[in-house]
Amino acid sequence: MPSTTPRCCINPSILSADFVNLEAELARIANADAVHVDVMDNHFVPNLTIGLPVVERIQQVSPVPLDAHLMISEVDRWAPKFADAGLASVTFHVEASDAPVKLARELRARGARAGMALRPATPVEPYLDLLPELDMLLVMTVEPGFGGQAFLDVMLPKIRRARAAIDGAGVDVAIQVDGGITEETITRAAEAGANVFVAGSAVYGRPSPAEAIDSLRAKGRLAFG
Ligand code: DX5
Ligand code: ZN
Repeated sequence: MPSTTPRCCINPSILSADFVNLEAELARIANADAVHVDVMDNHFVPNLTIGLPVVERIQQVSPVPLDAHLMISEVDRWAPKFADAGLASVTFHVEASDAPVKLARELRARGARAGMALRPATPVEPYLDLLPELDMLLVMTVEPGFGGQAFLDVMLPKIRRARAAIDGAGVDVAIQVDGGITEETITRAAEAGANVFVAGSAVYGRPSPAEAIDSLRAKGRLAFG
């Protein structure tokens, strides 16, 4: 069993924020545990967002730590640069990495938490031996690329198997879920064993993002136990 009970975290995604007013949008989520920054290259996923220069500037003004989700090709080359920018957490997709163990070690050596993401069709089993190299496993609960999609309940068994493996190995690895997290679906994800919840539309789509964060956190805590 892990030495400490994993903490329930709510990480709003700025993909659903107003990109023209990012500093003000960050101030609206100051009660979040971290801000989830979706980097897309129109190659690994069919959408394009922001790159390193903008993320560096967000890092300078954000009231909460940054949790970058890199949906990009050639991630072995790019991800360390995000860690060098001082980000608290950098997550790469295993499908885009040639050397995930080497990359995770590089991220940690630069002072960032190392996260590894799995697309919905990527099984967790081939990667269980890598858990000690990671601080976070991201189980995508939609196909990456766009906000506002419906939560894939078919991912719940993968979350359960990942939680069982993490607890069985006694390692301190967070399980993040990303995509379709709402006040309804967060309960199922937390019961399955997720403890870090990304929410874009369910936070920025509300009149008060800060209240939405508090409400999601209360529901996540209740279910995660
Ligand atoms: C999708 C992104 C998500 C997205 C989630 O590829 O990785 O972080 O912003 O948005 P919602 O919460 O609206 O599904
Ligand atoms: Zn994301």
